[in-house]
Amino acid sequence: MSADLRVGVLASGRGTNLQALLDAASEGELGGSVVLVGCNRVGARAIERARKAGVPVCVADRAELPRRADRQAKLRLALEAERVELVVLAGYDEILTPPFVSAFEGRMINIHPSLLPAFGGTMHAVREALQYGVKVTGCTVHLVTEEPDGGPILLQRCVEVRPDDSEERLQERVLAEEHRALVEAVRAFADGRVDLQGRRAVIREAMGSATGAR
Ligand code: GRF
Repeated sequence: MSADLRVGVLASGRGTNLQALLDAASEGELGGSVVLVGCNRVGARAIERARKAGVPVCVADRAELPRRADRQAKLRLALEAERVELVVLAGYDEILTPPFVSAFEGRMINIHPSLLPAFGGTMHAVREALQYGVKVTGCTVHLVTEEPDGGPILLQRCVEVRPDDSEERLQERVLAEEHRALVEAVRAFADGRVDLQGRRAVIREAMGSATGAR
């Protein structure tokens, strides 16, 4: 695939995952570049991060466009105008409409702060994992389908839950794994190393990686 994958990122909040992608791109480690950031909240920190990196921003705010379908239609047009090849949902807090999902089918991924299918479909996955008492949690990067958090899993990273963990401390360690996992997933797309076999997504090893090299 493209050695310079055109990536569009949708975010709603602080944007640390977006920042991880911007940093990896500027260090030449992403296999592509972030060409557009879409956001549904005018005050989001993600917008500042994009602007600082010189990346165009499309804002589809609720005040301007109260209907979710209209916000997503605006974002879709912007992504298509930028010829985005991969859409990354990095803390985007809206369920996507069927037309949006089908427009980017097979080339849209999401990061979720739990080991799916555990603690899916919630905005409080870390809190719920902690309250449930699991000993291991983590993060998941998956392809986006119409079922929220239900698409084929691309990769997962584990994080141990410590007996004295607070939600904040656990969240911090999960977030650090998210940043690495998301960059790795985008890189795999850029390298054309993602194979989809039904609902099983497989990332082939990078040529020359530690385990792949002989
Ligand atoms: C992350 O925990 C991500 O998994 C979830 O939303 C959060 C976004 O964080 N979908 P940030 O805005 O990237 O800092």
